[in-house]
Amino acid sequence: MNESQHWIKASGRRIAMVAVLATALILVGCGGGTTTISRSGLPGTTVTFPQGTATPSEVCGQCHVGIYAEVAFGTGADLKFGPIILKSLSDQLLSIPGPFFDTASAHHLAGVDPWPISARDLENGGAHCNTCHYPEPFNLPDLVLDKVIHEPTPRPVDQQDVGITCASCHLTPDGKIRGTYNPGELLAPHESVRDPNFPTSVMCAFCHSKGPRVVGKQTQTYYEWRDDYFGTGLGQKQCEDCHMPQEVRVLAEDWGTPPRAVGQHIWPGSHSATFIRQGLTLSLQQVPNTSGTFGARIEIHVHNVGAGHSVPSGSNRRGIWMDAAVIDSNGNTIAANEWLFAPWFSSRPDDRAFLSQDQILPFPDPQVAQTQADLQGPHETPVRAGEERVLAWTPQLPIGSFVVRVVLTYDLNRYNDRSFTQDQTELARSSISIRVQ
Ligand code: HEC
Ligand code: HEC
Ligand code: HEC
Ligand code: HEC
Ligand code: HEC
Repeated sequence: MNESQHWIKASGRRIAMVAVLATALILVGCGGGTTTISRSGLPGTTVTFPQGTATPSEVCGQCHVGIYAEVAFGTGADLKFGPIILKSLSDQLLSIPGPFFDTASAHHLAGVDPWPISARDLENGGAHCNTCHYPEPFNLPDLVLDKVIHEPTPRPVDQQDVGITCASCHLTPDGKIRGTYNPGELLAPHESVRDPNFPTSVMCAFCHSKGPRVVGKQTQTYYEWRDDYFGTGLGQKQCEDCHMPQEVRVLAEDWGTPPRAVGQHIWPGSHSATFIRQGLTLSLQQVPNTSGTFGARIEIHVHNVGAGHSVPSGSNRRGIWMDAAVIDSNGNTIAANEWLFAPWFSSRPDDRAFLSQDQILPFPDPQVAQTQADLQGPHETPVRAGEERVLAWTPQLPIGSFVVRVVLTYDLNRYNDRSFTQDQTELARSSISIRVQ
């Protein structure tokens, strides 16, 4: 490490500590009652966490400074939680409130992200969606025995605001800190326990899957990994291997402990442009037109080569638009088409055909969200792990030479106005020259 890297690391730490203190003060100001710990505590003294999973991450961050910086500031990644709108351009811009950073990890922002909070008011009449966004401590499920993952137990409403904390993943129901190391090897001031399942996908299962497996439906990420990727032998990687790559460094600063291997705590996903571009490849080819109509037949291949689950995965709000255009020699677009890849809201395809039936569903939940989804259907389902989706298009064209261009665009909220581009990221772009004779 050269001198300037040292400087960056040291000043990064200073910023981390200042922000830890600022956030701690705010938390104290808001409701009081944060756990206080003394930095003079020597190894061997026992720190406990009486607030359970509502223990703010800042408490752990006082000793685990580097890991906290990743969680709270996204240090080392290109995460960005830009402003978003629910529907129309005239809606209020929903932005991450201070003192939180809009570059933080999604887990750190889960309690304050104004988008889920507003969506809940609109779609669920203000009901609390606290099961995954703010659960109590849980034991990890079993990969083989627990075929259906049930939602975790939510914390009481007055303990929601801290969202997903370090303790949400690390605290066991009996108050110990779970990890991958044998506690005997460590100098931890808290009780810790080694869980061999901890660095595997079951750690993520509870919040990243819901109900039984339904191919095409939302909130299926863990099942998609288990059934389509790991279970078929397509790959061996666990969620952590892709979303928490390993680095070697001290686990806690200033405790005199040696550097050890630890996964990065950033969890890049659809808020990281470099990361979402790793999921799909896009390619085009002209094939013989046997349809009997005049024009060219084009095949568009969308291949999920990078994700250990479907793309897009998770919330039904996610969507990938695929826009195809045929451009003539003057640069004019003479034919165009559009597809949408997205998870269904419920266990059946989103489809405009259901709109009148939706009106008899309980209001607002699930009527509002189901109607919103059906208005955009039918559409393509997400591309499953390892799947190559081939879509054929036969635009009517005159004789001549043309360019066919296809663009894939990721949309965090497919339900808002398409001209709102702050929640969109171009994933891939491909073009070929074709001849119609
Ligand atoms: C979404 C779940 C999750 C959250 C939130 C989380 N961690 Fe972790 N943490 C993990 C996983 C999984 C590993 C093991 C991954 C690996 O190292 O391969 C880990 C590893 C660690 C380790 C290294 C020791 C070990 O057991 O491997 C420490 C220390 C740690 N986390 C501290 C923290 C702190 C401090 C926070 C909050 C600032 C935090 N974690 C938030 C899931 C989480
Ligand atoms: C007072 C300082 C301090 C606080 C507060 C603290 N830790 Fe630790 N923690 C340590 C030290 C020191 C180690 C041992 C590091 C080593 O030996 O490499 C450790 C170890 C760990 C490990 C590794 C356990 C294992 O068996 O793999 C995890 C995970 C962890 N801490 C998470 C947390 C979480 C989560 C919190 C907050 C709920 C927290 N810590 C609060 C100092 C602290
Ligand atoms: C306690 C529940 C919980 C656990 C456990 C959990 N997550 Fe999450 N995760 C969430 C929630 C809720 C969000 C969305 C937060 C938001 O954006 O408001 C999220 C967001 C994410 C994102 C970011 C998606 C995006 O849109 O940018 C990734 C990636 C992710 N989680 C991966 C993991 C991995 C890997 C694990 C296991 C090591 C894990 N999560 C464990 C609840 C959880
Ligand atoms: C082989 C690598 C790999 C594995 C294994 C993997 N992912 Fe991903 N994940 C990706 C890639 C690449 C993306 C970005 C492409 C996409 O889905 O949009 C992604 C995206 C995500 C997202 C963002 C989806 C959204 O709508 O915001 C979440 C959440 C997520 N993964 C969670 C998980 C969980 C949980 C597991 C384990 C059950 C897992 N991933 C396993 C590579 C992987
Ligand atoms: C089964 C667990 C679970 C439940 C229950 C749940 N969520 Fe989520 N939510 C997640 C996860 C995990 C993500 C991360 C992104 C993904 O997987 O697509 C997420 C992401 C979101 C996002 C996108 C956040 C962003 O910034 O990109 C919104 C909005 C949202 N949830 C709203 C809600 C609402 C409203 C409810 C109640 C009706 C709810 N959620 C219930 C697990 C859950």
